[in-house]
Amino acid sequence: MALTDELVDALAEARARFRSVTDAFEESVLRRQHDVLMSPLLWDLAHVPNYEDLWLVRALGGAPTQDGLDGLYDAFQQPRNVREALPLLGLEPAHAYGDAVRARALERLVDADVSPDAAEPLQRHGFVHSMVAQHEHQHTETILAAVQLLPPAEGHQLRAPPTRRGGPIHGDEVLVAGGPFTMGTPDPRALDNERPPHVVEVAPFWMDAAPVTNERYQRFIAAGGYEEPTWWTEAGWAWRQEADLTTPKFWRRDGDGWLRLRFGHLEAVPAGEPVQHVCWYEADAYARWAGRRLPTEPEWEKAARHDPDTGTSHRWPWGDLEPTSAHANLGHGFLGPAPVGAYPLGVSPSGCHQMVGDVWEWLASDFQPYPGFQAHPYPEYSAVFFGDGHKMLRGGSWATHASVGRVTFRNWDLPIRRQIFAGFRTARTA
Ligand SMILES: [Fe+2]
Repeated sequence: MALTDELVDALAEARARFRSVTDAFEESVLRRQHDVLMSPLLWDLAHVPNYEDLWLVRALGGAPTQDGLDGLYDAFQQPRNVREALPLLGLEPAHAYGDAVRARALERLVDADVSPDAAEPLQRHGFVHSMVAQHEHQHTETILAAVQLLPPAEGHQLRAPPTRRGGPIHGDEVLVAGGPFTMGTPDPRALDNERPPHVVEVAPFWMDAAPVTNERYQRFIAAGGYEEPTWWTEAGWAWRQEADLTTPKFWRRDGDGWLRLRFGHLEAVPAGEPVQHVCWYEADAYARWAGRRLPTEPEWEKAARHDPDTGTSHRWPWGDLEPTSAHANLGHGFLGPAPVGAYPLGVSPSGCHQMVGDVWEWLASDFQPYPGFQAHPYPEYSAVFFGDGHKMLRGGSWATHASVGRVTFRNWDLPIRRQIFAGFRTARTA
């Protein structure tokens, strides 16, 4: 298929997925801000096309599709806690705006030069169109996180089949040999912070063969993990006290067991699923309690993609083929993680299960640029977030689209964040 056709399809798929989630809710629900951490969903509805107008119309020489919207929908000008009070476009005008921007973007794309040596650097290899499609998919995941925060009466409209069954994991942990591996990617459609590829020397380490499950996490709770400052960093303990953390978000006691609220439904916490809705401080405390630590970012990426037999780094844990539903739990087909062992075809060369999909995995590392990093196409994409304020998350979640779930994709968030679909696995130095 010609690259322009692929890009048209990618944009259409991103829009269909976005609308399949937002269309499940009334305008009154979309208009309200349900949590200080999240936007009212109506903001996302026009922010997504506003971003598309900026990059696929105006950055490529076109006039704005609709004036007067940039200030409202710029994520940096409008922090989440003020978005509810803004004069946002209503549901129908937001959809009309989205359709108008898309039509103009596609008009330009039909004749666009997307070859590697195109005169317009943004269009080379289809970079900017791919970036915009990925942005829409990322907002679909953010919207799913906001929907999970809705009260039960409003949050139950989404439906999904039960997840796959779990399977055997051979051994709790795998040994990843020391030595160099290639981290990052030369992929011209990857985002700036994934580039350039570079060789990293990693000392040998043991990695959990699967993410930490609810069952294991319950042992940490039962052992008094939330009551014992020894396991927490100073900042983590202060936050545990201030926010009164005692369980993962959305959990509650039920006699001797546990229930969780998931998309408006109260259900027993499934023992074999990766724990999710824990913040970095909780993940770090669990790891210390278990006599282990969170993996570093190079360790995680090496365990996920380095093939010791060939010395190469693959695009995915299982190789270079794009994922199917047999490889990983991506794309919100299940509205939740699958039990560990559910994806034997997705195991990495080192023997790690579910490195991609299910839950984002918190890592020990802060968000830092790779050697030779160059901001592209704008510093606000990643460069302004570098430093020690954000912790790394890797591997995508069940809500991440495959186009964003590649193993080199880097995500970052505040160490207190719990509403995202994040869990973790642990490691120890060999
Ligand atoms: Fe955005």
